[in-house]
Amino acid sequence: MALNQFNINDIRAQFPVLDQQVYGKPLVYFDNAATTQKPLCVIERERDYYLHENCNIHRGVHYLSQMATEAYENARKTVAQFINARQPQEIVFTRGTTESLNLLATSLGQLLVGEGDKVVVSAMEHHSNMVPWQQMLMHSKGQLLVIRMDKNGVLDLNHYEELLKQRPKIVSIAHISNTLGTVNPIKEMISMAHKYDIPVVIDGAQSMAHQVIDVQDLDCDFYVFSGHKMYAPMGIGGLYGKMEWLEKMPPYQFGGEMVDTVSFEKTTFNKVPFKFEAGTPNVGAALGLETAVKFIQSFDRQEVEAYEDELLRYATEQLANIEGMRFIGQAPKRNGLISFVIDGIHPYDLGTIIDKMGVAVRTGHHCAEPVMTFFGIPGTVRASFAMYNTKEEIDIFVKAVDKAANMLK
Ligand code: ALA
Repeated sequence: MALNQFNINDIRAQFPVLDQQVYGKPLVYFDNAATTQKPLCVIERERDYYLHENCNIHRGVHYLSQMATEAYENARKTVAQFINARQPQEIVFTRGTTESLNLLATSLGQLLVGEGDKVVVSAMEHHSNMVPWQQMLMHSKGQLLVIRMDKNGVLDLNHYEELLKQRPKIVSIAHISNTLGTVNPIKEMISMAHKYDIPVVIDGAQSMAHQVIDVQDLDCDFYVFSGHKMYAPMGIGGLYGKMEWLEKMPPYQFGGEMVDTVSFEKTTFNKVPFKFEAGTPNVGAALGLETAVKFIQSFDRQEVEAYEDELLRYATEQLANIEGMRFIGQAPKRNGLISFVIDGIHPYDLGTIIDKMGVAVRTGHHCAEPVMTFFGIPGTVRASFAMYNTKEEIDIFVKAVDKAANMLK
């Protein structure tokens, strides 16, 4: 597909939801880390599926079923190619990052984690990359080991090395923190874990829309992501796993499609990836995800990345002028979002007031309560960007924050 010139007006025209007023003010949508908006091509792809192609897949001999099966399997190929998986079968479709991580905690946990064993996560994980492991370890009487971070939101790799020496069974870390924006040095961290033969899971929820992901280059064992944070519909996402792991892992859910033969005495299971896709999948959303991938691929990724970095730099610079501003997360390598608090002001109050000025941000603990505990704050205000945002929107946002802060002081 030919690359689109990076023209912000053309891009915004693809996202009609952005072109509206809230409380009589133009909408400024800066909650992209929670979910991105969807371009017309994605919405139309899902609509087309339900208008013309809807059918259950992998089950029917009839025309529509075969067409839908082929489309769904092509979507798997597109996603595999997008992250440079060795083969499409290394992509398991799930509901998103949360389901992928629950699948891994259950299935990989069952395969590798015995009584008293350990799993490593980092201090900046989203609850989805912490609670599933914690709950699994409760049953196995094991222990969750947590890589420390410093006050800038940078992981302590010496501490990580010490934890690896305790021979944990699995390491699971975020590529980009959803609260701090820190881009973790995952390639180095994967290679460190592999020296101890420990498999590594990467939570890519915040990275897929913003960075080029090459799972072979990273050499991660698993990489998980959500479609809805990368311009695709909700309810679809994926789990990349190296085939050698996926083949060894037991199924996560049981039901139709994931079986090979079934009797009352015994069941044998389908091959990878179907072994992990019990029940009727979200075919329409998978096709939407494929279209979202093609949408992202239609741009020069370096150009988009540079544009988003510039938005982040500009927003940081402008916000820094506001009295009492304290950024939470000041790692040298950050991506996509800014978290902050203002002295003496509750983030929730600030978020509520700027909402009335048309600005949508997220406030609270962002499903990462231990991060807030570490910084000794109830929550942050988080502004997160996507390729359709502009500097003009940042100006409106910064003015709104300044005004709200003055009202609340
Ligand atoms: N995980 C999403 C966020 O960080 C919902 O907002």
